Amino acid sequence: MNLEKRLTLITKAVYTVFGLVVIFLVFLFLLHTNPELVINKEVSVKDWKPRNPETDLGSEANDNLVNLGYKLITETSKHIGPLAPEVKARFAGNNLSCQNCHLEAGRKPGSASFVGVASRFPQFRGRENKMGTLEERVNGCMERSMNGKVLPENSLEMQAIVAYMEWLSEDVPDERIAEFKGFAKIVLPEEKADPVKGKVIYTKHCQTCHMEDGQGQRPSANEPYLYPPLWGTDTYNHGAGMHRVITASQFIKGNMPYLQATLEKPVLTDEEAYHVAAYINSFERPQKGNPEADFPDKKLKPVSTPYGPWVDSFSAEQHKFGPFQPIMAFYEKEFGIKKSK
Ligand code: HEC
Ligand code: HEC
Repeated sequence: MNLEKRLTLITKAVYTVFGLVVIFLVFLFLLHTNPELVINKEVSVKDWKPRNPETDLGSEANDNLVNLGYKLITETSKHIGPLAPEVKARFAGNNLSCQNCHLEAGRKPGSASFVGVASRFPQFRGRENKMGTLEERVNGCMERSMNGKVLPENSLEMQAIVAYMEWLSEDVPDERIAEFKGFAKIVLPEEKADPVKGKVIYTKHCQTCHMEDGQGQRPSANEPYLYPPLWGTDTYNHGAGMHRVITASQFIKGNMPYLQATLEKPVLTDEEAYHVAAYINSFERPQKGNPEADFPDKKLKPVSTPYGPWVDSFSAEQHKFGPFQPIMAFYEKEFGIKKSK
């Protein structure tokens, strides 16, 4: 090979290497600025995890508001409940935290997670028979689950709670929203939910934490619960979603016993969750004022709402403990409304 040929070969080689380096650098740049273009989108959607307030917040003003929302969700009674220093700040009537039902600060699938919730509001609400905002939905839980009063919509606390939910909802891939919504599915047994059967399950699976008397455990009366109460005076009232046997059994299936059950790997069978839900809801609890006003269009009331009035003639006992299929069949036949709860 003569010198000239060799030089051309070397030049070509140099150009090729240079070209490859440039391509590689462009790839690195894209990976850095816009990973989704380079990394397989399927994989990134699958591996996506909800944001974590403990690690993913900065120091901008909005991050501080989100952080306040996070505190309100996880230590509710200390900020806006009975443990708040100022009486006028006490909007929640019990010492539960939102997180007691919306687990991992609203990040756990199967516990009516807040991940993606902001994109579902405003939505139609049968309980009020009108379009409702996210603020109004939060207040639904304030008046029932927290057995308290509405939090003013322009208060810093309400803005912080909503900012936290919006922050959790901001980066969720569309494909992942559904798995965080609502609770576990359950095939309803075609029998009455039985508190006597439920007690056996309670003793075996629940009592170590929630105690035999259902009052949970906390270090002292001035501190929030480590294990929240399930009945009695310091818990959700009779107008709350958790007081409906169907909703409670769905919650329990995906979340209890705590740290064991997940949406994907429940511990209890559908029957066990159903009966234990009846057991915890068979005791006295605070009464929500003016329950008759709920669901102005009574046809839209969930079949498992344990308080009247109803537009059917099933007994109060059956609305509370089932079997629910005959009531559902009635609404479908009579009004063409398919109900699942
Ligand atoms: C005792 C349990 C419990 C507590 C405590 C609780 N919630 Fe809820 N929450 C529920 C249940 C049950 C539902 C769903 C009700 C239904 O499907 O009818 C719900 C639904 C919601 C929703 C709507 C979710 C969606 O996907 O549409 C929001 C928002 C919400 N709660 C906010 C809060 C906030 C904020 C707090 C604290 C101030 C709180 N909740 C405390 C049980 C609870
Ligand atoms: C290992 C302890 C433990 C066991 C066992 C356990 N729980 Fe819980 N439970 C908790 C904790 C802790 C929470 C609150 C979760 C949080 O704040 O993150 C909770 C929350 C709840 C709630 C919602 C909050 C409330 O006060 O109503 C219900 C309902 C509930 N548990 C029912 C049950 C039932 C039924 C069983 C048995 C099948 C059970 N739990 C077993 C620890 C436990």
